[in-house]
Amino acid sequence: MAIADLQKPFLDESQIAASRAFMGLDSQLIIDRTYFAVEQDGTLAGCGGWSRRATMYGGDRSTGRSAALLDPSRDPARVRAMYTHPAFARRGVGRLVLRLCEEAARAEGFRRAELVASRSGEPLYRACGYQAIEAIHDDRGGASVPLLRMTKTL
Ligand SMILES: CC(C)(COP(=O)(O)OP(=O)(O)OC[C@H]1O[C@@H](n2cnc3c(N)ncnc32)[C@H](O)[C@@H]1OP(=O)(O)O)[C@@H](O)C(=O)NCCC(=O)NCCS
Repeated sequence: MAIADLQKPFLDESQIAASRAFMGLDSQLIIDRTYFAVEQDGTLAGCGGWSRRATMYGGDRSTGRSAALLDPSRDPARVRAMYTHPAFARRGVGRLVLRLCEEAARAEGFRRAELVASRSGEPLYRACGYQAIEAIHDDRGGASVPLLRMTKTL
């Protein structure tokens, strides 16, 4: 629902459909216990995670993921797979999950975080202090979807 609804102001229908090729949950984050879920009144309000592994972005269906472990003294931790239930949008769920991710990565010795933002995610990350590094286009799903690699010092 987050992918279909909350991207509408930012992408056209063909881009939203195409983004499913590289969005969604990467279950490696659950196995690694680096994925957070926020529950409110018995409903999953949002989720998101971080990673000590090399993959920059992508879900279980995405090609080219790498489980290689990062070096906290040299590499940035990844922020991954942030989704808020549309009924809970703009209530601080994304900001909360991001803060939990940053604190956990910092506790493991990471000094920087990096992520690849969707157009829908970009305002959240900018509001939380992330800066743009590189514009990317991903066309694995057919239509070309604009993305932005961003970073923040932890
Ligand atoms: C990105 C996403 C996780 C943000 O979740 P959220 O819980 O609504 O975000 P928050 O309420 O914590 O927002 C924090 C701040 O980010 C900014 N922000 C978030 N969404 C925004 C939007 N649609 N437009 C403008 N600013 C926005 C605002 O500054 C906001 O603070 P404010 O509401 O006090 O003005 C959610 O929109 C989503 O699931 N999008 C679809 C999936 C997606 O693209 N995920 C990102 C993958 S990189």
